[in-house]
Amino acid sequence: MQIINTSDGSHTIYLPEMNEQYHSLNGAITESNYVYIDNGYNFHPCKIPKVFEVGFGTGLNCLLTALQAEKDKRPTFYISIEKYPLEKNITSRLNFGILISVEAQHIFEKIHDCKWNKVEPISKNFSLLKIKGDLIDYNLTQIEHCDVIYFDAFGPDKQPEMWTPLIFNKISSLTSAGGVLVTYSAKGDVRRALAASGFEMARLPGPPGKIHMLRGIKKEAKI
Ligand SMILES: C[S@@+](CC[C@H](N)C(=O)[O-])C[C@H]1O[C@@H](n2cnc3c(N)ncnc32)[C@H](O)[C@@H]1O
Repeated sequence: MQIINTSDGSHTIYLPEMNEQYHSLNGAITESNYVYIDNGYNFHPCKIPKVFEVGFGTGLNCLLTALQAEKDKRPTFYISIEKYPLEKNITSRLNFGILISVEAQHIFEKIHDCKWNKVEPISKNFSLLKIKGDLIDYNLTQIEHCDVIYFDAFGPDKQPEMWTPLIFNKISSLTSAGGVLVTYSAKGDVRRALAASGFEMARLPGPPGKIHMLRGIKKEAKI
């Protein structure tokens, strides 16, 4: 596992055995802000959103969401699932907080220091539940419906078992009607499988270096 630089100066993690990194090499902060914050969190009109993230990883999406929640004074409950939590000797070297502000670094440390499997207040408008678990067999029905879904697993070519109709049906059942799902992947198979699981799908322009990304809106249940 190696910490490497991306084009906007922010770090990401590279996994040599998988030949995969946690974020785009064209800018980790840039990509996360564009895909998850601008097109996901900021797009949903709900005043008190619940966010569910697939793949907590470095905590970057979580940090950016906490900062946006504070900026907008928008009380937010963030739930994230992670099968392989990173060690402190890795997360403490990541530069996301430092690059943004002193306050961001403080929040980033709190995000990583708080306990797993327990709801923790992080800042005035942001609480966090980090679930240590495997999305594939985790029972999501014990979680309340969420308004915004960040689908941020490793790529479909590297981890196909995370991009299946079965997983998308689980995620769809967790999503409130009108809820928004965003992902960096723009694969046709992913778009069609998400559509089949109940999302109205749109291909949006992608972040730097990618032509497209996907956003889905959960359809109302049929009566
Ligand atoms: C692309 S990285 C996510 C990056 C992360 N969202 C961030 O902001 O740094 C994918 C993450 O999914 C996690 N993951 C892989 N398989 C998983 C599974 N079955 N259940 C939960 N998390 C999983 C990986 O360990 C990794 O942290």
